[in-house]
Amino acid sequence: MVRFVLAAGVALLIFLGHSVAIPVVSDPTTTVFSAEATVPPDVPHTDVTSHGPYDGPSPTTTGALSTDVLAASIPALPPGPEAYSYPSDGQLHAPEPAPYTPAGGQGTNGSAPVYRVLSDFDYESIALGLYQEWIELDLFHWGLATFSDKDFEDAGLTAQDRYLIQFMAEQEVGHATLLSNILGGSAPKQCTYNYPVSNVREYVDFCQKLTRFGESGVYGFLNHLDSRPVGQLLLQSISTEARQQMIFRQFQGLFPMPVWFEVGTPQSWAWTLLAPYISSCPENQTRLIWQNYPSVYILNQPNPVRINGADVRNETTGGHANSLSTAGVPADQDCLNSDEVGVRCAPAVTNNRSTPLSYPGRQVFLRWDSQLNVTYSPLEEVRDNSGWTVQPNMSTYAGDPAVNGTMYLILTDEDLYVTPFNLTQVNPHVYGVAAKCPLRTSKWPVYVTKSSV
Ligand SMILES: *[C@@H]1O[C@H](CO)[C@@H](O)[C@H](O)[C@H]1NC(C)=O
Ligand SMILES: *[C@@H]1O[C@H](CO)[C@@H](O)[C@H](O)[C@H]1NC(C)=O
Ligand SMILES: *[C@@H]1O[C@H](CO)[C@@H](O)[C@H](O)[C@H]1NC(C)=O
Ligand SMILES: *[C@@H]1O[C@H](CO)[C@@H](O)[C@H](O)[C@H]1NC(C)=O
Ligand SMILES: *[C@@H]1O[C@H](CO)[C@@H](O)[C@H](O)[C@H]1NC(C)=O
Ligand SMILES: *[C@@H]1O[C@H](CO)[C@@H](O)[C@H](O)[C@H]1NC(C)=O
Ligand SMILES: *[C@@H]1O[C@H](CO)[C@@H](O)[C@H](O)[C@H]1NC(C)=O
Ligand SMILES: *[C@@H]1O[C@H](CO)[C@@H](O)[C@H](O)[C@H]1NC(C)=O
Repeated sequence: MVRFVLAAGVALLIFLGHSVAIPVVSDPTTTVFSAEATVPPDVPHTDVTSHGPYDGPSPTTTGALSTDVLAASIPALPPGPEAYSYPSDGQLHAPEPAPYTPAGGQGTNGSAPVYRVLSDFDYESIALGLYQEWIELDLFHWGLATFSDKDFEDAGLTAQDRYLIQFMAEQEVGHATLLSNILGGSAPKQCTYNYPVSNVREYVDFCQKLTRFGESGVYGFLNHLDSRPVGQLLLQSISTEARQQMIFRQFQGLFPMPVWFEVGTPQSWAWTLLAPYISSCPENQTRLIWQNYPSVYILNQPNPVRINGADVRNETTGGHANSLSTAGVPADQDCLNSDEVGVRCAPAVTNNRSTPLSYPGRQVFLRWDSQLNVTYSPLEEVRDNSGWTVQPNMSTYAGDPAVNGTMYLILTDEDLYVTPFNLTQVNPHVYGVAAKCPLRTSKWPVYVTKSSV
């Protein structure tokens, strides 16, 4: 007989006992009734929470969780003793544990995987991921509930597009359930939120940036987790989130994937970009260890709704995500009103609009975290908490400009050398964090506020 084993969310495996005649069914009809297997419940959630800034009594707890701090930073060390020992010559160097099975790997010795966090690092990282899933769940529902069908249609988004946003919200229920189950009873609960948007296009841009830093935040810690089984599950949810991010770019009429590599960031950067949009959380909410850095305002953040997206000053709805504002854009400068190829920005699979980026440095450095590379450029003419810098000209590999999508712009006091797997080492030197679109200008003013730690 033939048995089907359905591994939840993974794959349909077909177990062949002994061979049977395969029925040929050419009509798309249900021929065999099969009762649904046990359905695991979703985590309790509200589709749209209350919104707006917090105006209740003074919060009972504020600030990051902390314990004994052993040192101000982690010293840089040389590579570990085994780092260069494997020859990487295409030959096999050890007996095979089983046929077609190369020796080595983690979690490959047959021990049953346990989907459980193994350390403070794991817990705090997965809890951060859960905070992110919760805000996305709310944000996607909130947009659909807040803006009318006509509002969406005016932005070029149809009923089918709205259904896609709704489906994304449903995906978030699954992700929040998965991460809550991994953490157990202390898992952070859904909070209430406030979003810096007042129309559909601002909303779509904010969704695009929020999913961007959610994705990058996970990539930054995924391979550092102690629990590889947990990492596997998280990988399979964050891959879905990556697709959401790209779809929001398409909803904005942007080029869907302008880079060869996606950025991974330290957890504290993701938390810095997420926390400002949380108004309040339930009493006894599980808090996080991560640092919440000051916001960096990008004064000439490109505005994707403009025909000349680079020709802007102060057209965001605030610091942090630096998402776009439509408020000052006259109709004749709005790319949605253009029919010209290369200019128009109606939702599309792809529009070839180019919106490049930029960057800073001096004794205070602005740091571009672009794909694989990290680059510093000096912050010039620092006055009244603002300054400018020059966009670096660099590529990851020939043909791929390193800076060509939403980037992370970080203010630092030192140009420490870090690479994708030790990026977090720069954190003790960070003074501000922003998400930033690339632009064509060479001078990049930024505004650093100290008030929003
Ligand atoms: C980060 O890793 C690189 C090697 O990839 C190393 O050269 C550098 O010193 C490390 N930086 C710190 C601050 O540990
Ligand atoms: C298999 O590997 C796990 C770690 O992945 C380890 O805890 C376990 O002891 C190993 N089992 C055996 C039989 O070597
Ligand atoms: C919060 O925790 C305190 C102390 O553990 C407990 O007494 C209280 O009932 C909790 N409140 C809620 C709403 O769970
Ligand atoms: C940017 O605009 C906001 C209002 O939209 C204003 O509060 C802020 O002061 C402006 N910043 C600068 C540096 O012009
Ligand atoms: C798309 O834009 C790039 C520059 O960003 C340009 O090199 C290319 O020729 C454009 N292609 C089309 C079909 O417009
Ligand atoms: C950079 O991004 C633009 C879209 O914004 C795209 O047209 C262009 O091809 C990208 N450049 C490269 C070299 O990948
Ligand atoms: C960037 O560098 C390349 C290679 O050196 C050069 O051809 C190009 O003109 C430079 N672009 C800018 C804007 O400086
Ligand atoms: C990063 O970019 C800088 C500046 O273009 C370059 O000198 C350096 O080699 C790059 N590093 C890596 C690891 O690609």
